[in-house]
Amino acid sequence: MILSVEALTKNFAGLVAVNALSIQVRRNSITALIGPNGAGKTTALNLITGVLRPTAGRVLLKGADITGRSPHSIASNGMTRTYQNLQMFEGMTVLETVMVGAHRVGRSTWLAALLRAPSVVAEEKDLRNRAMAALDRAGVPASYSGRVAAELPYGWQRRVEIARAIASGVDMLLLDEPAAGLNNQESETMAQLICELREGGTTVLLVEHDMNLVMGISDQVIVMNFGQLLSQGTPDQVQNDPAVVEAYLGKGAEAADAVA
Ligand SMILES: Nc1ncnc2c1ncn2[C@@H]1O[C@H](COP(=O)(O)OP(=O)(O)OP(=O)(O)O)[C@@H](O)[C@H]1O
Ligand SMILES: [Mg+2]
Repeated sequence: MILSVEALTKNFAGLVAVNALSIQVRRNSITALIGPNGAGKTTALNLITGVLRPTAGRVLLKGADITGRSPHSIASNGMTRTYQNLQMFEGMTVLETVMVGAHRVGRSTWLAALLRAPSVVAEEKDLRNRAMAALDRAGVPASYSGRVAAELPYGWQRRVEIARAIASGVDMLLLDEPAAGLNNQESETMAQLICELREGGTTVLLVEHDMNLVMGISDQVIVMNFGQLLSQGTPDQVQNDPAVVEAYLGKGAEAADAVA
């Protein structure tokens, strides 16, 4: 297992957003974390990637306890994430945006950088090469590298965001709603990209509402409801689990009827 989450719990003043969640992710697999709105998916992702500190429980990455460590420190152990809302820096080109991600693996000290030592020049070239390779892997045409990232259509911005994560050299990637706001065609190519990441040796854990995408590409699906683990298994197993059907349709439909 590349990732083990043990009894992870997060309380927000009176609300248990994540409640004793335990999950396992196999290396080189695609795992989807799904569940109704407010189920605790984003909070779980934040706990796993060090954006939030858990109230209780542990997160193990490749056997190492990373609980409570910073996102930066966790990235240096090989795991990073993208965000539900895009994080494009104002005015930065596509290439610069991805180089920021690649910089994490750069080694020069700030003093060497200040003095423009030859090692820094070589490193910048190396960063640039790594960034271009990551863009290529994320399916972004090289001709886009000089364009302002924030001005690209939404679907391309998502790919740039993934390229930035790839450039940081991690072997595990967490994606929060990579298909949100994409049309059918775009979400199909996103599904293809995620499969290519797995083929290239990256383990993917994604939170996603697009069920076609989730059921089409996942090796494992984990379902959360009210902060807890509701079901897990292959796409087939999960889709045929009555508890899942009820969480998505039964109670929701009744509640929707009651409101209507
Ligand atoms: N910082 C916070 N402070 C207080 N409550 C929070 C905070 N973040 C999330 N919550 C609450 O925790 C619960 C889980 O939220 P979370 O955002 O993790 O759900 P989600 O499964 O990602 O939902 P969605 O599908 O809508 O993105 C919700 O009830 C939410 O209101
Ligand atoms: Mg969310």
